[in-house]
Amino acid sequence: MRAPQKDPKTIEEAAAILRSGALCAFATETVYGLGADATNSDAVLAIYETKGRPRFNPLICHCPDMEMARKIAVFSPRAEELAERFWPGPMTLVLPLAPDAELSDLVTAGLGTVALRIPGHEAARKLVAAVGRPVAAPSANPSGKLSPTTAEAVRRGFAGRVPVLDGGACESGLESTILAVEGSTVTQLRAGALPREAVEAALGIAVPVAGHNAAVAAPGMLLSHYAPDARLRLNAETPHADEAYLGFGDFTGEGARAALNLSPMGDLHEAARNLFSFLARLDASDAGKIAVAPIPMTGLGEAINDRLERAAAPRG
Ligand code: TXA
Ligand code: MG
Repeated sequence: MRAPQKDPKTIEEAAAILRSGALCAFATETVYGLGADATNSDAVLAIYETKGRPRFNPLICHCPDMEMARKIAVFSPRAEELAERFWPGPMTLVLPLAPDAELSDLVTAGLGTVALRIPGHEAARKLVAAVGRPVAAPSANPSGKLSPTTAEAVRRGFAGRVPVLDGGACESGLESTILAVEGSTVTQLRAGALPREAVEAALGIAVPVAGHNAAVAAPGMLLSHYAPDARLRLNAETPHADEAYLGFGDFTGEGARAALNLSPMGDLHEAARNLFSFLARLDASDAGKIAVAPIPMTGLGEAINDRLERAAAPRG
């Protein structure tokens, strides 16, 4: 196991680490990312090793602006429309790879497409601009564990082996929404911080959810992906006495061994922001079982319920 790394204090220091081919974690508005220079295969390999990611799932490339984005992907009019409307922000587009894109094959897993986004977090954009190359970054957690929404959670997850540029607590707390664009059709591959309804309203078309047998599946859709150690019981209006309780709105979990409320006001944004860190806190309590309040399926509720179902899925 490698020795603890010194954390960079400035964007320039973090950019120098990434340019040297080493890994550096950084904040985005969704979750913390484990960054590597996307043009450097050794650096990208280190992401898989460090996360213990079992196979080469394609990674999301982060760009500071459309100028860099256009160098790695081909934008159809529909893709331009989405970029115009939702970038910078928590939306990832899967687009055809540009013919002269200088990306490592490990980033795209050899597919003819690339997943990319311009993050909403200003420091993240400045960091990638300072690197001068696209930065590949999956969530900065060991494979199969909860996604980190603070620098402290990243340090805990990797036992200090990865340097972290502290960018504060993540604003949305859920990964980006992944959309595949083919011609004028848009398909949601992963529910995320941008609600599907918002995309449908902006485009004036239906955005179907990719089925389990979809030709382009996002491998992050593997069941049992966002897993706490504790067993989860979903849609629980009241807790059993031996359970910890993750509440929402008026479902407060009276009588539970430990309880946290994702949003006492029943606000889905607040709930999304708190989801991973509250799950981690209840996971660290000695209950071993967590009951979770019903969460409505509207807006961000779709992504919250998706993450909860994965966290509750039987482990392989
Ligand atoms: O919010 C986020 O998206 C965070 C932050 C750090 O930006 N990143 C993130 O990355 O969640 P990751 O690696 O955990 O998820 C990437 C997802 C995977 O499910 C992967 O299968 C999918 O994107 N993906 C990447 N390239 C793809 C492609 N060419 N076609 C289909 N799916 C792709
Ligand atoms: Mg992840």
